Amino acid sequence: MAAVDAGWTVIGIDNFEAKVAQINSGKSPVEDILDNQLQAALASGAYRASTDFSSVAKASVITICVPTPLDEKREPDLSLLQSAASAIAPFVSNETLVVSESTSYPGTLRDIIIPRVDSLKPRDSLKVYFASAPERVNPGDPVWNQKNTPRLVGAVDAASQVKALAFYESICEVAVSVSSPEVAEAAKLLENTFRLVNIALINEFTQLCAIAGIKVHEVIDAASSKPYGFMPFRPGVGVGGHCIPVDPLYLTWWARQNSGRAVFVETADSINHAMPKYVAQRALELVDASVTKPRVLILGVAYKPGVGDVRETPVSQLRDFLKEQGVDIAWHDPMVPVWDGSEPVDLDWECDVAILATKQPGMDVEPLIARGVQILDCTNSIESQPGVSSI
Ligand SMILES: NC(=O)c1ccc[n+]([C@@H]2O[C@H](COP(=O)([O-])OP(=O)(O)OC[C@H]3O[C@@H](n4cnc5c(N)ncnc54)[C@H](O)[C@@H]3O)[C@@H](O)[C@H]2O)c1
Repeated sequence: MAAVDAGWTVIGIDNFEAKVAQINSGKSPVEDILDNQLQAALASGAYRASTDFSSVAKASVITICVPTPLDEKREPDLSLLQSAASAIAPFVSNETLVVSESTSYPGTLRDIIIPRVDSLKPRDSLKVYFASAPERVNPGDPVWNQKNTPRLVGAVDAASQVKALAFYESICEVAVSVSSPEVAEAAKLLENTFRLVNIALINEFTQLCAIAGIKVHEVIDAASSKPYGFMPFRPGVGVGGHCIPVDPLYLTWWARQNSGRAVFVETADSINHAMPKYVAQRALELVDASVTKPRVLILGVAYKPGVGDVRETPVSQLRDFLKEQGVDIAWHDPMVPVWDGSEPVDLDWECDVAILATKQPGMDVEPLIARGVQILDCTNSIESQPGVSSI
């Protein structure tokens, strides 16, 4: 949509037919794009979605932004990137710019995309330009968007850099030129790893404060009064979404490929992974010892407030651990209609304890407090009062 706004004609290619049909019917699958914005772009002819990779032949710029998840060994799964690169390659035209926007390890553009495009392009003599410009998107953020978030651009040669900068300068307020695709790819991993390790630090610190009976949020607020050198992070059930829990493992994997170790990052990852179990144990401590089969209501299952996205949500581990303990579980999230095949319950579901895992906008826990339900707040959003504990 940012490219449409900048005057480009855009074709969005996706191999998921239902999503393409949904987009072309004017229903946005993305929270931050409104239906009427999408409908205006469709109506003007500036945008359409397609499953047909041959449409690539018309493009002077091709951006690849397919998911880069982890496989079952929790290592990079680059199969979608590989298949997308192979699928566009037979249709690229002369002088086309191909940009990798997917988050991945430094070297991905050169290792994965360029060899496929070069070997499968229609003619050897075609000149194709290549760059990396990792996507920076914060879903549900009312302030930072594609236009006003600076975009890193690193290309394989000077001509590619000129083309890539021209494209991103047309759709973003600031395009930041870096010396290589690897710098851009590495910077993206650094940004998200920075968040992972700081969240892990505060999650560990929270557990230490709990042992000592100190209110961690008051400590964080106090430390935040320092005008320099400190940035507040808050504890929670863990980390979720498809960026923060995933991208740092691209870094640890890349380190191993280069005979190194990212010990610090691995430790942070394991601390965050232990949080759901810690939260479950804290919640069960609130249940009266006479209750043999506790009933626990989880409030908010999306990985963060304001979105309905449950990918990699740490609340899954929380639920699974509670189930292993023989607990009766239900969940409530106004932004998530179905979660792993189960449906939400209303807030009046009878329970011994409620865990506020993700505070969705408009979610009102007052009736639960009024009913005398014990609440474990993992979000620092309920004022301290009898019946409410904070992690
Ligand atoms: N969404 C974010 O918040 C965010 C932020 C920064 C970076 N990223 C990165 O951007 C990349 C994409 O993430 P996303 O959240 O947009 O992913 P997504 O899960 O929304 O998937 C994008 C689309 O790619 C399609 N797709 C998958 N394989 C394909 C293929 N081979 N050919 C064509 N289409 C294919 C899927 O059907 C899906 O509709 C990832 O590398 C991610 O790490 C995402």
